[in-house]
Amino acid sequence: MKYMGSKNRIAKHILPIMLAERETKQWWIEPFVGGANMIDKVTGNRMGADINPYLIEALIAIRDCVSDLPKTNKEFTEDCYKQLIKSDDYKYKGYAGFAFSYGGKWLGGWRRDRLGKRDYVAESYKNALKQSPLLQGVRFVKESYLDLQIPDNSLIYCDPPYEGTTKYKDRFDHADFWQWCRDKAKEGHTVFISGYNAPDDFECIWQKEIVSSLTKNTGEKRAVEKLFRYKA
Ligand SMILES: C[S@@+](CC[C@H](N)C(=O)[O-])C[C@H]1O[C@@H](n2cnc3c(N)ncnc32)[C@H](O)[C@@H]1O
Repeated sequence: MKYMGSKNRIAKHILPIMLAERETKQWWIEPFVGGANMIDKVTGNRMGADINPYLIEALIAIRDCVSDLPKTNKEFTEDCYKQLIKSDDYKYKGYAGFAFSYGGKWLGGWRRDRLGKRDYVAESYKNALKQSPLLQGVRFVKESYLDLQIPDNSLIYCDPPYEGTTKYKDRFDHADFWQWCRDKAKEGHTVFISGYNAPDDFECIWQKEIVSSLTKNTGEKRAVEKLFRYKA
């Protein structure tokens, strides 16, 4: 699913590195699953978790009832979207609130192109149809990473909110997060982390400059995406 901070573009680079270390039947755990744009390229035992309950609802809808989702912007209009913001009545609020929003940002505004010609409801439906078979068998959990029950000897891929990108109100404690990664590695899990920076006891095992074209007002943005691993 289209999602803010999606790792779809770099999956082809970092997945082979992580999968090379995965044992047969080893659980693949993603505590920050977002739009499931990494986990949908993995097979076998998989668990995806996220603290955002609407997001988990959206992923479960794509996995379990994709054919019930709205198919065109005649079926789900901009007015329906305005209602969605005000009320929790719509069964697929989770899906609609991400999929039909600008930039895949939760209720971030009805997504439209400059000419108003593209049907993003139909485009989202096409993406959901493509993603649905890839999510069969994934266990989705609404949980903070801190409370997640992880099977022994798992491979954990973390894509947490990046430092400096979260709003103050939902501040993410990065020091706690890095400590959690150390603890999980010491418990016997294999832990990988996406990010721009990490403490010195984490090793960067892959990096690449990624250019994202934003709007004409913000111009293009360059950032070096990295994959880290605990050195212990
Ligand atoms: C960068 S996004 C993940 C993007 C995902 N890898 C993808 O490709 O679509 C970070 C995610 O972390 C989630 N998150 C933030 N704080 C969390 C917490 N304490 N526990 C679990 N998930 C959290 C956010 O809701 C968000 O979905």
